Amino acid sequence: MVSEQERRVHQLLDNPPPLHMNERGELVNFQIDPKLVPHLRDAVFPGARTMETGSGVSTIVLLALGARHTSISPDGGEAERIRTYCLDHGISVDEYTPIVARSEDVLPTLGAADELDLAIVDGNHAFPSPFIDWFYMVRLLKPFGTVVVDDVELWTGSVLADFLDAEESIWIRLERNPRFAVYRLIGDKREALERSWVDQPHVFKNSDLALTGHVRPTLSSRVPGQPATVRLRRVVRRTWWKVRN
Ligand SMILES: C[S@@+](CC[C@H](N)C(=O)[O-])C[C@H]1O[C@@H](n2cnc3c(N)ncnc32)[C@H](O)[C@@H]1O
Repeated sequence: MVSEQERRVHQLLDNPPPLHMNERGELVNFQIDPKLVPHLRDAVFPGARTMETGSGVSTIVLLALGARHTSISPDGGEAERIRTYCLDHGISVDEYTPIVARSEDVLPTLGAADELDLAIVDGNHAFPSPFIDWFYMVRLLKPFGTVVVDDVELWTGSVLADFLDAEESIWIRLERNPRFAVYRLIGDKREALERSWVDQPHVFKNSDLALTGHVRPTLSSRVPGQPATVRLRRVVRRTWWKVRN
């Protein structure tokens, strides 16, 4: 039997409302990939806190799933249209906090506590916005929190996803397809945000070491130059996560 929640989500995806204003002042809609919905459902348990840069159909899906949700977008009209749609379709907005601002201005002011179960990077896709959004929302992520990078068909999204794909000691990739990528934090978020470029496999692998004096290891290793203890920790974390799930 289809639950009321499922029915609302299907209704929304089948008939998405126009929520965004384009450059010509017309109301249009950016659809989300329906394959993203199971990941949102997995991340949103009762009481889960979620945040996204940008707002739209994804915002309504998260509210319909019962998330305590914050969206960050400079267009206050989106938040009003989202509220109207929700109220017209029996979706509560009691736990909805729209922040009307540019994410690069507001995210650095939000601190670094373990607050979020899910963060979606889907605001401005111009360089360097997705990287800023990712950095500051990961600062707020709980252990084992989920990060979605949307629009990986764009260069900025694909570079971020390529970087995360290689960070196997910190992130486990749950899905990557031509539209979006989803990761779960299995390592220490401080390590994710603070470690040296030498310890970041994607950066190390794609750098010109002839000028830096670093030596590319000859032994086959998925993380260049990484000590055995760190590799062991990575294997233990990934195995533990897989057993737990
Ligand atoms: C691709 S749309 C988001 C789509 C949304 N996830 C959905 O499901 O419809 C891009 C969003 O980024 C917002 N945006 C543009 N510049 C931004 C900025 N500097 N900070 C945050 N959001 C921004 C737009 O207002 C829009 O909501």
